[in-house]
Amino acid sequence: MTQLTEQAAQLRRLLHQYAHEYYVLDNPTVPDAEYDRLFRQLQALEMAHPELITLDSPTQRVGGAPLPEFAAVAHRVPMLSLNNAFEDEDVESFDRRVREGLGINEVFYDVGPKFDGLAMSLTYENGVLVQAATRGDGATGEDVTRNVRTINAIPLRLQQKEGVPFPTLLEVRGEVLMFKKDFDRLNEDQVAKGQKTFANPRNAAAGSLRQLDSRITASRRLAFFAYGIATCEGAPLPATQSAVMDWYAELGLPVCKERDRVQGAQGLLAYYQRIGEKRPGLPYEIDGVVYKVDSFAQQEELGFVSRAPRWAIAHKYPAQEALTVVDAIDVQVGRTGAITPVARLQPVFVGGVTVTNATLHNEDEVRRKDVRVGDTVVVRRAGDVIPEVVSVVLERRPMVEQPGGDLFNPQQVPREPAYSLPKTCPVCGSHVVREEGEAIARCSGGLFCSAQRKEAIWHFAGRRAMDIDGLGGRYIDNLVELDYVHGVADLYRLKLDDFLEMKRRADERDGVTPETVAQGKVATKWAENLLEAIEASKNPPLARLLFALGVRHVGESTAKTLADWLGSLAFVRHAPAAVLRVLPDIGGTVADSIADFFAEPKNQKALDDLLDAGVQPVAEHAPNPSLREKLETASLLAALEIPRLTATRAKQLVAIFPSVVDLAHADPGKLAALPADIATSVQQWLADDGNKTHLAELDAWCTTLLTALPEESEVVQGVFTGKTFVLTGTLPTLSRDDAKALIEAQGGKVSGSVSKKTDVVVAGAEAGSKLAKAEELGVAIWDEAQLLAALPG
Ligand code: IVH
Repeated sequence: MTQLTEQAAQLRRLLHQYAHEYYVLDNPTVPDAEYDRLFRQLQALEMAHPELITLDSPTQRVGGAPLPEFAAVAHRVPMLSLNNAFEDEDVESFDRRVREGLGINEVFYDVGPKFDGLAMSLTYENGVLVQAATRGDGATGEDVTRNVRTINAIPLRLQQKEGVPFPTLLEVRGEVLMFKKDFDRLNEDQVAKGQKTFANPRNAAAGSLRQLDSRITASRRLAFFAYGIATCEGAPLPATQSAVMDWYAELGLPVCKERDRVQGAQGLLAYYQRIGEKRPGLPYEIDGVVYKVDSFAQQEELGFVSRAPRWAIAHKYPAQEALTVVDAIDVQVGRTGAITPVARLQPVFVGGVTVTNATLHNEDEVRRKDVRVGDTVVVRRAGDVIPEVVSVVLERRPMVEQPGGDLFNPQQVPREPAYSLPKTCPVCGSHVVREEGEAIARCSGGLFCSAQRKEAIWHFAGRRAMDIDGLGGRYIDNLVELDYVHGVADLYRLKLDDFLEMKRRADERDGVTPETVAQGKVATKWAENLLEAIEASKNPPLARLLFALGVRHVGESTAKTLADWLGSLAFVRHAPAAVLRVLPDIGGTVADSIADFFAEPKNQKALDDLLDAGVQPVAEHAPNPSLREKLETASLLAALEIPRLTATRAKQLVAIFPSVVDLAHADPGKLAALPADIATSVQQWLADDGNKTHLAELDAWCTTLLTALPEESEVVQGVFTGKTFVLTGTLPTLSRDDAKALIEAQGGKVSGSVSKKTDVVVAGAEAGSKLAKAEELGVAIWDEAQLLAALPG
């Protein structure tokens, strides 16, 4: 072997190994750039010496010029289909037939997801991928080898390992599919390019694979899972299906992690249940699970009926997509005024429930899908997500004839016009506005709009907010519609009589006879319960109160950050945006949104009203002492986003002008120590009086905040003082928050990432890269028991 051949082989070996680690094991060992570097090296080598190119070279994955058509491939072993089971009974009778057929009592099954992609047969000769064929009619398929070579998850060469048998001929059966995230990305790209989008990942996978131009396939991210074996020569065929799967993994073929081996119908049904629960969170789509008798000897004994094996069955999950007709398109008004178009549908059973409404997301989505009243549409409901309209079946669109055509060529036009959002809010009549660059249109009515008021109260009363037990949609509707509640504070002023009167008026309006209890008395217990629940909600932790206010972009976790760091409502409600920006995980948009909310006098008034009505957060505390570091003038300057002033430059600036006052009166001569463009930029910024005032106010506010900080000596002293911890993985009994609280109560700090400064990493189950990093850096690693043992008695 010449030196060049050896060099090319070595590069290929490394590239195969890295690709396997990346695509199959999901565990890369080298940075992408290293892969790219070796790849280019090999490409250059092959370009200079085309005789070095081999079929299995990773450079051959990139795709070539279009084919005129796909060649036909006769399958050595036919590609069959599976019978389906829908009900538990179907599975029980399948298991019974298998046991009776074999004359035994207990059968082991290999079980795995039924992937929603397309079947593929891969032939490896002496370990090299030589052919890939689609299923076709089961006997003859299409040769899609060139396209399949572009799929990174499919090894071009099988791995040869010490002690693992290596076949001379292997025909692998499996499924080509597209992961959900790659599907979403593909559709986004298609929209950007003004091209047709795909209705689901399976269509996208099929469309991408059946491309005569393999460069298109190469640009789409397809995946693959092996699930069967058709031919095996030169190596012993393992005795069971599950052993084949283990062997495949050794050969470097991608097999799915969710597969298992179970016993009897009980085992099958438990597996169905388990995967059904995991299904919404799986990165790919499945439409059921597949059960296969594990032993090949037993499979052979059972044989086939017509085109399906007796030894396997697909157990399907309820369909997630169905067809129905759009009766109307309405809009819903959300808490922040967001206007969402909603399709009202003829009831249809999909994903296990009857669906009558489906979201159309926003105006652009309706336009893109061109959904019109009367259309037949594909509705989809996956897991717990809100049902959505996926696409329109255009062939079924109601059309009307238009004058102008002739007898043979009548002109047809759609009966309904294309959809556009209403110009005014259907609830309050205010203008609907859509800001430039925003996908969402909003009602401009604010809390004048009763729909927004209802949503705001609903959010406020929610379980994760103020948790007012029992205050559901029906009561909120009436409280708002009949004008008992304008703002959230009004809830706390309601009396028993108000509730009873509201109910009487609502009943009258709806023509309902009031509910009475024994002796003809009107029921009042519900109102008493509600009053009690409202009263009981008055003292929430600060984070919940902040979340309940419904500030845009403030979810539970941001609310918690605000409460943890600033400690009290008094600080949060006046915090300048620049201060908010230095808090962990709060970016510019969120910080501005919070500051804008509190800058609005009516929001400040709503808060005062709440406090007046007796709402008072519990366990407020002094701001977090670490704010001292965060609020250094340099960080604040960086947060102000003065053009060109990066964090490093801000530090240099502060070295010259230690206080804000110095900076405000900056002598241009002194600024000259900075690079000229930055000096000019800072000067221009300071020339604006508004900015100068802003800076002075910010400084004053920070001073007030810093004086509220406990003295260093008051900082909690405990066994962990001065120590930094990192938590990773799932601990057996403690939640993350519990563990953090325990550490902090002992003066320790909990950080999000492992570095040389970390003292201890507390690792639980499924700890990932942080644990690896800790091992690499030699940081102490504890489990939960060690953490608990280190706490004082
Ligand atoms: S085994 C003898 N296992 O389902 C049939 N098929 O109707 C062997 N499929 O188009 C098929 N996931 O592509 C098997 N884990 C799995 C599967 C699976 C998806 C597809 C297969 C075929 C259809 C069978």
